[in-house]
Amino acid sequence: MTPAEPIARLRSLRSVALRTPEAKKAAEFYQDVWGLDAVEDDGGVAWLRGTGPEHHILEVREADRNGLGKIAFSVGTPREVDDAARRLEALGVPLAAEPGRLDQAGGGYGLRFADPENRLIELSTEVEAVVPRDPDGREAVPRKLAHVVLNTVDIDAACAFYTTVLGMRVSDWSEHQMAFLRCNSDHHVIAFNQAEWTSVNHMAYEMPSIDHFMRGIGRLKHQGVTPLWGPGRHGPGNNTFGYFADPAGLVCEYTSEVEQVEEDAWLCRVWRRVPELSDLWGTAGPPSKDVRTHMAGIPDPGGWWAR
Ligand SMILES: [Fe+2]
Repeated sequence: MTPAEPIARLRSLRSVALRTPEAKKAAEFYQDVWGLDAVEDDGGVAWLRGTGPEHHILEVREADRNGLGKIAFSVGTPREVDDAARRLEALGVPLAAEPGRLDQAGGGYGLRFADPENRLIELSTEVEAVVPRDPDGREAVPRKLAHVVLNTVDIDAACAFYTTVLGMRVSDWSEHQMAFLRCNSDHHVIAFNQAEWTSVNHMAYEMPSIDHFMRGIGRLKHQGVTPLWGPGRHGPGNNTFGYFADPAGLVCEYTSEVEQVEEDAWLCRVWRRVPELSDLWGTAGPPSKDVRTHMAGIPDPGGWWAR
């Protein structure tokens, strides 16, 4: 059933939760190497913060295999959460968590439901605000989560759900292989990649500037962590990229300067998948088999919260 209107007006991508058997090592990596701050560590669950105002941007949780824990978006008010619950019910989408206070670090009021590929989506409001760390931007560490790229077995069905139900807009296509979706002025906060199975492709963390981006890559290099791919600049979104693997084998990216979309003036394009458009500077070259294998990950059936 196609809804008459989206269930809510998403303001931003707040955070992503990852599940992995290597949770402890991964959490240490994101704190000691990647540049996030540990907010709380609650027996097998780590919450990590960037320098921006979000309470946390990454949650890492112990599990028996790599997978996505959830994706959290912000909405404006508790009323919008309640309205979203009613609209989901009308669409026949079952709730994994009814509207209510969220029992997690940072609290807030929200609800949870699954998308068509059994990924857990959370809409939340009134999450604890925090004073941004490093407001002058001295540190070469991530400010916020920039985007998450998801491997999907049906890119058209995924786009249909995220546009009609969640109200996101498609900013650009990369042939019929990738679709870039926005919920605010950032060119994309979610991208789908047509693949053989459902999984997380990678997560990108925004650096305040291209100088911070390069300094971040340099800091990792000094710690013996070299990029799987990059540095470079993509065509769609015009953002810089440097891709790495975390200790769980999941791909994380430093990015900066993502294109800002003027809502009523933007024209969605279909980009050709040619080297000069996926690597505008010509510095990165084509993605290696190694990075593509990491980005494919392992099949993620989702639905873990109901098991
Ligand atoms: Fe990316």
